[in-house]
Amino acid sequence: MRISFEAEGFPAMDVPPGAPLADILDGPHSPVFFGCKSGNCGTCLVDVNADQPTLLSVPSTDEREFLETHAADRPTARLACQLKAVCNLKLKYLN
Ligand code: FES
Repeated sequence: MRISFEAEGFPAMDVPPGAPLADILDGPHSPVFFGCKSGNCGTCLVDVNADQPTLLSVPSTDEREFLETHAADRPTARLACQLKAVCNLKLKYLN
């Protein structure tokens, strides 16, 4: 699976299918920042452009409530810590 970023200076990454984004993107040179990694803090809020969006996990109740409160105007927003690399993704960090 390929993960790419809208932010300049961050090359696309080829990652194993199913890899949790919180594991593969959490590092000192990542364009996405993480906090709790449990879907509560919102630090990892991203816009997701997926080539196969139906493969993405359905947001949990907690994630859905967070998105409705903090990103209601962004239908493709997700919490990166709740996603896995199930298809090719292009991410835009929103925080
Ligand atoms: S890291 Fe806290 S919600 Fe994703």
